Amino acid sequence: MKKAPINNFIARYGYNHFLWLRRSMHMLFVGLVLLWMILLYYYASTRYFIHVSTKEKYDPKLESILRNASMKDNTVIITSLNEAWAKPGSIFDVFRESFRVGNDTKNFLNHLVVINWDQKAQARCQAIHPYCYQIESKSENATSKEAFFMTKDYLHIVWRKIEFLGFVLQMGYNFVFTDTDIMWLRNPFKYLQEDADFQTSCDNFNGDSSDLDNAPNTGFSYVKSNEKTIWLYKIWFNSRKDFPNMHDQDVFNEIKKLPQISSMNLKIRFLSPEYFGGFCEYFKDFNKLCTMHANCCVGLKNKIHDLNNFLEDWSKYLALPQNMKGKKAHYYHSWSVPSSCRFYPSIE
Ligand SMILES: *[C@@H]1O[C@H](CO)[C@@H](O)[C@H](O)[C@H]1NC(C)=O
Ligand SMILES: *[C@@H]1O[C@H](CO)[C@@H](O)[C@H](O)[C@H]1NC(C)=O
Ligand SMILES: *[C@@H]1O[C@H](CO)[C@@H](O)[C@H](O)[C@H]1NC(C)=O
Repeated sequence: MKKAPINNFIARYGYNHFLWLRRSMHMLFVGLVLLWMILLYYYASTRYFIHVSTKEKYDPKLESILRNASMKDNTVIITSLNEAWAKPGSIFDVFRESFRVGNDTKNFLNHLVVINWDQKAQARCQAIHPYCYQIESKSENATSKEAFFMTKDYLHIVWRKIEFLGFVLQMGYNFVFTDTDIMWLRNPFKYLQEDADFQTSCDNFNGDSSDLDNAPNTGFSYVKSNEKTIWLYKIWFNSRKDFPNMHDQDVFNEIKKLPQISSMNLKIRFLSPEYFGGFCEYFKDFNKLCTMHANCCVGLKNKIHDLNNFLEDWSKYLALPQNMKGKKAHYYHSWSVPSSCRFYPSIE
């Protein structure tokens, strides 16, 4: 007579419950060790390893845009837009106007890549500019809302931006990131240091371009693509978890002195507001000014108003005869900003 399968099992293992228990405990232990190793690896990989494989990296469309837009030395200029800033007559139009009235800055528009946070910004961009890339955004419509600054959606976007810029570095492109409310009046590369890895404009500048105590404003930054900067962006992006309610720039301030960063001999330089100015700190000298940022200004209308006035001031300066541009020139310069931007409740 054939034995039932259960009897086979008993015949093989016997009734030795102790052995059975030992095997189970052994398996459980091995399982726990494996789980622990997987968790440890996951933690380390999100925090310390450079994570190269990304959606953007293999997006042929982005690759094509960057390739076409880049200068000879693989540098692109990047800005980002939402619907409100992209509308006709809004910031994007003033921004593009600055390249036209700037001294020899028109050509930089051919190297400008616009990343768009929503469909409407993308559509408007595509209608007037060759290099537009819509970046996925969870908060599709949130970017145009009032009181957007420092909301959850705002933080999502600023971190997405840092992540994206890190991808651009990984793809081998250097970039100048410029906020769209920055006016380009002169060729900034003449004022940037050729050998620095990371350069940024400042909200407040103490006169020493290599002093980490300067208060950066990363709205204008020039970053070379190399292992050090890729690493920096990785650490920066991952640090968002340690400072949950802070935006990218404040977190940069927190991490800029970390040993992980100082130990890699990254050359960080801060740009003087005499050349890279902003409404937070300005010198009123059109002879030196290269870019001008409508920072320390809240409200889209105020920004547009003051930036338009600023471009008029610039045009008046350009029209001055040479002998009135030079020494003691401020006396003749019309300088009407900030005016609407002056009364801000907080810094944006
Ligand atoms: C890049 O340039 C190539 C060749 O001129 C062109 O075929 C392609 O459509 C361009 N891509 C973009 C995104 O502009
Ligand atoms: C404009 O640029 C040209 C050449 O780059 C230079 O000679 C000229 O002085 C500049 N004008 C002003 C106002 O900066
Ligand atoms: C965004 O707004 C459009 C209409 O303006 C609406 O159709 C769409 O569902 C909205 N998307 C989200 C994610 O709220």
